[in-house]
Amino acid sequence: MQVKMGNCVLELIKGDITQQDTEAIVNAANEELVPGGGVDGAIHRAGGPSIAEEARRYGRCPTGSAVITGAGNLKAKYVIHAVGPIWRGGNHGEAELLASAYRSALNLCLEKDINSVAFPSISTGAYGYPMKEAAKVALSTVISFLKEHQKPKLVRMVLFGEEAYKTYEKVLKELAAK
Ligand code: APR
Repeated sequence: MQVKMGNCVLELIKGDITQQDTEAIVNAANEELVPGGGVDGAIHRAGGPSIAEEARRYGRCPTGSAVITGAGNLKAKYVIHAVGPIWRGGNHGEAELLASAYRSALNLCLEKDINSVAFPSISTGAYGYPMKEAAKVALSTVISFLKEHQKPKLVRMVLFGEEAYKTYEKVLKELAAK
């Protein structure tokens, strides 16, 4: 599914983040920037050791923020490491921190003049954020950002599996109808 927002496109696909040919892909990282499982593990395995070596130079990356490295052997040019919140029931600022992780990654795209970026569904794996709630935050944050900046030209949400895709599609239809 795609929605056009002025000159920009917000796209949902089912797939694997490591296979994306966008200029940047986003990693669902941790504050220590130490390779973990899930998206993080897949990116470091596919991209090779240079990504972790470069990320290590940043030290820590607080929840809600993001840093950028090269992408090693991946098709993308950059990996943006964004740290989403751990879900603790929903009353611990999770939504604001998740929105901030997306905004931080998108701001790095502006700074580096990156025109296309692919995101996974940050925080919805090991960090336990409920998919539908995460979809609302992710999509509404991206939509507001694109409305405000008209950049990057392509934002692709890469959903892992049918259920995640369907959830994002439903939420995007609701938001697009508003
Ligand atoms: N491509 C796209 N999405 C994927 C892929 C992939 N290759 N692999 C997993 N996913 C999906 C998961 O199904 C989930 O919906 O990405 C979403 C995020 O899951 P995680 O990777 O577990 O990320 P998160 O919940 O943010 O937890 C981050 O996990 O791997 C560690 O180091 C990482 O400590 C950090 C934590």
